[in-house]
Amino acid sequence: MLLAIDNVLTEEELAAANALLAESAWVSGLVTAGTQAAKVKNNQQLPEDSPQMAVLRRLVLGALNRNALFFTATLPKKIMPPFFNRYSGKTNHYGFHVDNAMRMLPDGGGYVRADVSATLFLSDPQTYDGGELVINDTFGQQSVKLQAGSMVIYPSSSVHQVTPVTRGERIACFMFIQSMVRDPDQRRLLYEMDMALLQLRQNIGETEAVVSLTGTYHNLLRQWAES
Ligand code: NI
Repeated sequence: MLLAIDNVLTEEELAAANALLAESAWVSGLVTAGTQAAKVKNNQQLPEDSPQMAVLRRLVLGALNRNALFFTATLPKKIMPPFFNRYSGKTNHYGFHVDNAMRMLPDGGGYVRADVSATLFLSDPQTYDGGELVINDTFGQQSVKLQAGSMVIYPSSSVHQVTPVTRGERIACFMFIQSMVRDPDQRRLLYEMDMALLQLRQNIGETEAVVSLTGTYHNLLRQWAES
């Protein structure tokens, strides 16, 4: 499932994040690439020991924590601490690759299984050319370039690329999510059911049938989720 989540960051958070990133020093993006990805990766990344990293991560994770759509679409069990990258000048693209399935936490304290990948766009799309996130999956090829502060989530199993940025710079935040529901088809069913229930609740209120179906949603989640 590929889903855009608009306005994950408020205007204030977006401005704060971009101000921090403007004063940051960048390093080669190869530091977190797997062997296959390293051959096609040509961008820059915020280093793990960057003084801005902790504040930026808190800001993004705080925004995700209050986002109901993000929760229901990903059912997060673990979130890999977000990374930040920049595409500009000569380091301006990331060719077709797959994300590593298991990612070690930056502190070395175990692994996160990447079920869902997420890109949070931080640059105004009017300020750069290129830099589309192109995702190939069972749903075909999708090209994504969102407003600053908005996020796309997509299966970590998909082959994807970031096309060359030919003007300006594209700064984004990316992360990997291990879901409580490992199977993407089950996750999608739960998401669609939850969204339909939300609509029913708005349209007809908490009728007996809506309450009963809500129970079914939670019982399915109980069957399929690992906490
Ligand atoms: Ni990737």
